[in-house]
Amino acid sequence: MDTLSGIAALILAAGKGTRMHSPKPKVMHSLLGSPMLAYSLAALKPLFGDNILIVSGHMAETLETSFPDFRFIRQTEQLGTGHALLAALPALESMAPNRILVINGDAPLITSEIARNFVRSAQGADLAFATILMSDPGAYGRVVRTGGTLSAIVEAKDFDPGIHGDPTGEVNAGMYCVKLDVARQLLPLLRNSNKSGEYYLTDLIALGIQAGLDVRGVPAGHDASLMGVNTPQELATAENLLASRVAASLLAKGVILHSPELLRASPFASIEPGAEISSPCEIYGKSQISAGAEIGPYCVVVDSIIESGAKIRPFSHLEGAVVGPEAIVGPYTRLRPGARLEADAHAGNFVELKKATLGKGSKANHLTYLGDAEIGAGVNIGAGTITCNYDGSNKFKTIIGEHAFIGSNTAMVAPVTIGARSLIGAGSVITKDVPPDEMAIGRSRQKNLPKRKK
Ligand code: UD1
Ligand code: MG
Repeated sequence: MDTLSGIAALILAAGKGTRMHSPKPKVMHSLLGSPMLAYSLAALKPLFGDNILIVSGHMAETLETSFPDFRFIRQTEQLGTGHALLAALPALESMAPNRILVINGDAPLITSEIARNFVRSAQGADLAFATILMSDPGAYGRVVRTGGTLSAIVEAKDFDPGIHGDPTGEVNAGMYCVKLDVARQLLPLLRNSNKSGEYYLTDLIALGIQAGLDVRGVPAGHDASLMGVNTPQELATAENLLASRVAASLLAKGVILHSPELLRASPFASIEPGAEISSPCEIYGKSQISAGAEIGPYCVVVDSIIESGAKIRPFSHLEGAVVGPEAIVGPYTRLRPGARLEADAHAGNFVELKKATLGKGSKANHLTYLGDAEIGAGVNIGAGTITCNYDGSNKFKTIIGEHAFIGSNTAMVAPVTIGARSLIGAGSVITKDVPPDEMAIGRSRQKNLPKRKK
């Protein structure tokens, strides 16, 4: 997709989000594992490249540190959407576009297509905004047309059928395209004499019409792609819509989904045709699932790579992990960041790996913790094995050579190296390196004594 020229994009994201009743900034609430703002940015980035500016305000640092690759401008007091545009004006002037696309940061279902079509339809207008038709206009700003001619957007709180006529269901979608010189001309005229005491961006419509400018309401369809998220209920609705949108596109391209209605997959994850996923299941972040990989139900997969032929059995939790070809994980496995299973490796029930590599064909099938460990190929890790990687202040590494056999209930106190092909007796506490091809037993000897007489 080619980037648009002569136009900059502004995302309004400074608001408190009072109706969310949450301590987080509204646009940081997550949908399918990524914050709301990530979705508007993903839709606008292909069209605007670096010409994107975000207005932050309420908990600005949280927002700014979460999106370090983007440019922010602060609205120090949140006095309304019109005031947010005014706060961004000096920064926009320095970008010198002819026009500005302004979108609300609380519309995560927006797509590049919708934004591009709107910018095209708004071509030539001094000021344009997208409209949608709603059976219940709820809290949206109402589009008022007098005798069929656009006259204003009136916010729900200020709407009076006696003055503005019956609501038509045509509402303001919260996406605007305005010429920079028009913004410069009209913004100082905004007043806050309304029920909220805010400077409404939507008042620019009536002001533009009064100034004799070309102001247009551009229909942007009926679907929910421009819905605003203001409440927990709307967040849940938007997340469900997004999940069905992703499931439908995965099915269309050839991913096999069992119970697709229960799949929650991020659109930022890459899932190849021929992968097979049973739901309920959550696949988030920048996960990559290859063709031929299988994920069983009740799994959570975040920022993980699952290669071809790998099987993730039910109730497994993977984050920042790599699962090699034909490897088997689960049921009930936890792979934490830095966990890596090479081809054909197995990690079974109640096995946890963190910053640990399990070599080709190696197995840790039961009740095991492997942290800060490098395990070669063909190793067998017995049930109940633990790498003791932490002494209370520092972390240390355990290295296990290829084809070693670690007996059940072994504790390896790191830093420690277990040589290739060595054998560790069950129940050992290993505190010293074990040379290759040797056997180590680190436990007290069993005594058999005569039974005490009664
Ligand atoms: C807004 C529109 C309404 C439209 C609806 C579409 C106004 C006055 N009303 O209402 O006509 O139908 O969106 O979803 O614009 N923000 C700031 N600074 C502020 C206030 C808000 O940056 O001082 C940001 C918010 O973070 C949010 C966006 O602007 O992302 C919209 O604000 P919000 O309070 O959600 O407006 P709505 O009441 O939904
Ligand atoms: Mg809103």
